[in-house]
Amino acid sequence: MKKIAILTNGGDAPGLNAVIRAIVKTAEYNGIECYGFIEGYRGLLDNNYVKLDSTGNASGILDKGGTIIGTSNNTNVFNLKTINENGEVEYKDYSEKCVQNIKDDGFDCLFTLGGDGTQKSSRDFSLRGINCIGIPKTIDNDVASTDITFGYNTAVSVATEALDRLHTTAEAHHRIMVLEVMGRYAGWITLESAIAGGADVALIPEIPYDINKVVQKIESRKAKGKPFSIVVVSEGAMEKDGTVTIKRKLDDGKGLDNIRLGGAGEKVAQILEELTGLDARTTVLGYVQRGGTPTSYDRVLSTKYGVKAVELAMQGIFNVLVTCKDGKMSYATLEEVVGNNKEIGAASGGTKESNIRKIKMDDELIHVARNIGICLGD
Ligand code: F6P
Repeated sequence: MKKIAILTNGGDAPGLNAVIRAIVKTAEYNGIECYGFIEGYRGLLDNNYVKLDSTGNASGILDKGGTIIGTSNNTNVFNLKTINENGEVEYKDYSEKCVQNIKDDGFDCLFTLGGDGTQKSSRDFSLRGINCIGIPKTIDNDVASTDITFGYNTAVSVATEALDRLHTTAEAHHRIMVLEVMGRYAGWITLESAIAGGADVALIPEIPYDINKVVQKIESRKAKGKPFSIVVVSEGAMEKDGTVTIKRKLDDGKGLDNIRLGGAGEKVAQILEELTGLDARTTVLGYVQRGGTPTSYDRVLSTKYGVKAVELAMQGIFNVLVTCKDGKMSYATLEEVVGNNKEIGAASGGTKESNIRKIKMDDELIHVARNIGICLGD
């Protein structure tokens, strides 16, 4: 192991720089040179990379949001959107060029920091003979085979702080305050922040909701002298027999992720206002959850992920995702993580059949939420 490369791909998440820093430091400590491809798989395709140095460009980055090597979330090099000479859109496979770039420049291992889509490409590169090690990133906490992704804890903290602030204004005005948070396929941010922020209702993609159950909850609070309520809604939440709320369809070759979600919170607020007679307001937390400084928990988790990744490479264990299970760093094969992914039901955007880690109905968070009276819309 002499020369390794990192890429950060997909939507950013707090902790990306902390992982980069840990990889660079561990690599240097073991006499390994470390490079970073610029803007994810785009940099791999363009063979655009920089040397990373813990006393230079990779110094002072532990607490910084974003990623010092940039990211791209619409570059699937196995199926890349291009325009041909007749001006027509074509999807082409550029993976062979990427493989050649890695081989020509002698990289012994590629570290892929990203979510489900990123790890799928990583698995596909591993099938073409590249040594890959994935690290699970996403604020949504929905990557298979690991208990926790880096970035998630920070997103929950941001959402919890927002709920604390919404609480006081809800109480002052006797309003229903709806907070829409991220979570495309899984409701981890919603459920955990609802518990941490003392919310009354949490609507998650895993439990299609019946709005009448939410109305009952709000009415019963009103009857007990609490004429205000706090409702947290995942962007991917949907009504029973309904579909996800789509802001717009994109056309960037991202398959199922080719849909921008938005409006789930506002939809709930409007119906609740009508059915309860209380004023309702919506706050969409959006990208605030993804930006800025990682929590101390995420800094430590990211550092553990980075150190373990380099250790695995030095042991010759490739084509795996670094995982954290029951608090212990370990690994799972990339095949195990993304092998079952199938793109089905593209129109609804919420029915991807895959290993994506959704909340199971016997999860402790569900049990806790129900016991303290949080309405889950069922
Ligand atoms: O990182 C995952 C996520 O936050 C999803 O919850 C959300 O749907 C998506 O990213 C939006 O990302 P972008 O607008 O960058 O594609």
